[in-house]
Amino acid sequence: MPRHYAIVPAAGSGARFGAQMPKQYLPIAGKPLIYHTLSALCRCERIDRVWVVLSPDDEVWRKHDWTSLGPKLETVFCGGATRAESVANGLLAAETAAADDDWMLVHDAARPCLTQAMLAALCDELADDAVGGILAVPVADTLKRADAGQRVAATEPRDGLWQAQTPQMFRYGVLLRALAEHPGVTDEAGAIEAAGLKPRLVQADTTNLKVTYPTDLRLAELILQGRGE
Ligand code: C5P
Repeated sequence: MPRHYAIVPAAGSGARFGAQMPKQYLPIAGKPLIYHTLSALCRCERIDRVWVVLSPDDEVWRKHDWTSLGPKLETVFCGGATRAESVANGLLAAETAAADDDWMLVHDAARPCLTQAMLAALCDELADDAVGGILAVPVADTLKRADAGQRVAATEPRDGLWQAQTPQMFRYGVLLRALAEHPGVTDEAGAIEAAGLKPRLVQADTTNLKVTYPTDLRLAELILQGRGE
């Protein structure tokens, strides 16, 4: 049986958020944001190990106590200049543990509201899949394309459009090779697509949001508090 592992790229500076420290350390529901993210993965019984990929310059991680997350957590300070590079470096750090056919779940540090139900849906729906896939939600809003003056140039059809989320789950060997060959992608599915494969879309919901701007942080906190976390 293939094993399940997780990699959490957490080496971004959070420039769009504009805080003093990387956004994954901002407090939310009484803990650093990334604590909630890692806790969801470490609590998942199917996942054997979780690598968190930090920047070599990270000075905040060591200031917190992470022991309550348990023994599955591995910390590596090998983040790169892009998300794809951080993930590729994390995959190399996992090399001694992971076999080619093992599943690797890559999950953004900045998505703290991941649930056990979402993880179960992803693992169950992809268990026999030849390619792997990602959590995603069908686009709900009408989409407008802007011109240079921020006026509507066109209304884009939203049929068949989905918003990609994470975790993104692929076989270790396939993902390692795809990211090495296609490093310019913004998510793992992009590398798998560039390799000529079609990742499956597993429906999640919008509570699995990525904290990018300050208003997202408040929303994520309300979601966690609403669940009693
Ligand atoms: O910036 P954004 O929110 O899109 O980043 C998504 C995830 O990728 C975050 O968890 C961030 O820490 C991570 N990342 C990384 N290395 C980079 C850039 C982003 O690990 N160089």
